[in-house]
Formats: sequence, C-alpha cells, structure tokens
Amino acid sequence: MQVRGITMTEKLITGKKDITRIKTYIDGYDENLEGGIPAGHVVLVSGTAGTMKSSMVFNIFFNEVLENSRHAVYVTLEQSSFSLLNHMVNMGYKLDKLPYFALDDISQLGKVLDKVKASKKGSLTLIDIGAVRKQLKAVTEAPSGDWVNVLKNILKKFKTQAQVDLFCLDSLSALYVLTDMKNPRTQLFHIFEYFRDTEITSFLISEMPLDKKKYSQYEIEDYLADGVILLELKPRQRKMTREISTVKMRSTDANIDVFTLEFDKGKFKALYGGQTPLV
Ligand SMILES: Nc1ncnc2c1ncn2[C@@H]1O[C@H](COP(=O)(O)OP(=O)(O)OP(=O)(O)O)[C@@H](O)[C@H]1O
Ligand SMILES: [Mg+2]
Repeated sequence: MQVRGITMTEKLITGKKDITRIKTYIDGYDENLEGGIPAGHVVLVSGTAGTMKSSMVFNIFFNEVLENSRHAVYVTLEQSSFSLLNHMVNMGYKLDKLPYFALDDISQLGKVLDKVKASKKGSLTLIDIGAVRKQLKAVTEAPSGDWVNVLKNILKKFKTQAQVDLFCLDSLSALYVLTDMKNPRTQLFHIFEYFRDTEITSFLISEMPLDKKKYSQYEIEDYLADGVILLELKPRQRKMTREISTVKMRSTDANIDVFTLEFDKGKFKALYGGQTPLV
C-alpha cells in the first residue's frame, strides 16, 4: 500500500467499523473499550503476583474459542501447563467444552499442528516451555539459549499452518531470565515488531515489581505495546480489592478509570467506581 509515496505494510482503515475487536469477556469492561481490544494489537498485561493476569488472558482465549472458533496459543514459561490448567478447572472453566492440546515435547509439534489444523471448532494449545527446556537438557547438557527465536519459529508455524489468531506469552519477565538481553531497547523493539507483524492479537504478561514503580522491567515495553492493561490488588482497610484499568489502548476511545474486578460464578465483572468513598 502507498500513502504519499511511503510503502506501508500495515493497512489503513477507512473508519471505526473496520476495526475487529476481541472481547475481554469482562462484563462492564468491554463497554469501556469500545467493545474490546483491536485485533492484531500487542497488549501488555501488567500486575504484581496473584492479580489474575493469567486467568484474565485464559478467560479471553477460552471464550473466543467457544464463541468464535478461534485458534489460540498460550505459552507458559514459569508455571507448568498442568498447574495452569488445574487453576482454571478450579475456577470453573469446563475444559472439556473445547479442543485443547498441551505441548511439552517439541518433537510433537508437527502432530499438535495437525490436530489444530483439523479442529473446525477452534482450539487452545498450551505450550509448556519449562517442560521443553527440561527435555532438551536431558538430551544435551547445554540447551541453546535463543528462546526468543524458538518462540518466533513456533509462532510462525502456528500462524502459517493453523491460522492461529490469539497468542499469550506468560510471562515476558520469565523470557528475560532465559535471554541474554545485551541491548534491551533494540531487542525489545524487534520482539514487539515481530508480534505486530504476525497480525496475531498478542498478550504479553508482565510481572510488576511490588513497589509498582514500573509496568515492566525495561520501562519501554509499555511504549512499544499497542495496549497496556493494569491489574492491581489494593488494600481497603483490611480488605483487598482487585482492580483493572486501561493504561492505554491504541485506536480506542478507552475509559481509563479504575474498575473493581470481580470473579464470581465463572465470570469476570468490572464494576464502575472502583474507589470506595472516603470514610
Ligand atoms: N474462584 C477462584 N478459584 C481459584 N482461584 C481464584 C478464584 N478467584 C480468585 N482466585 C485467585 O486467583 C489468583 C491466581 O490467579 P492467576 O494465576 O491468574 O494470577 P497471576 O497474576 O497470573 O499470578 P502469578 O503472579 O502467580 O502468575 C490466586 O491468588 C487466587 O486466589
Ligand atoms: Mg500467572
């Protein structure tokens, strides 16, 4: 495409209606995001430990597979896929409702891709990088450290062979531990550009330090991302309240107020007026 002589790889929309939005399936929150996250966005999901970062993204994937037969890939680096699935079952997600596959042995990648391709009802694939690393270590004492490239290659295969349109990296912080970040600004720029170029809606989970002074480790991830969603736990006297807010969402007239986040009877809800009145 040419715009005033500049060759652009990204498409220029003609109006708001051209934007496909991926719902977050949080009642009361999608309405404040013009219906959801623009498809193809790279979204940073930031929060301290236990703020339901993984659950929030899993909830989107679970519902998108069920409602829109999408194919989703969830890569877990720290938590094992069993631990993640057990948590989701405990939260009430009926996994038997959708085709899901777990990949913990890289030699099975082709087989999993075939199953994903064959699934007309969409699919959810969990890739357990921790298990893959253990398995590689058993084969060679020093597994190659280029996990960014491993991830890129896996994602490329899922995109080109199985039309995957949702991706989650849980977490970006864990990827840094496995990667030699000699020049984080340049490396991160290329990682984010890679995700954006795939046109897959990508969720990058970022573990926020407890002092909450930054959304992500290198403090540039939030500038590089198309959207930043912040999950927090706030003390109100002796009671802890979960909160959700949109720090930014490109191409969206987002309401950036803070909402109380609740999970009840298998559903996330965002309640307006997260701040309790002063007593
Ligand atoms: N119905 C529920 N069943 C199980 N856990 C629940 C439920 N409701 C809330 N939780 C809470 O969800 C939290 C864990 O959610 P999740 O793993 O998504 O958080 P996280 O931010 O990804 O955590 P981590 O920092 O460990 O990665 C737990 O602290 C748990 O108490
Ligand atoms: Mg998590």
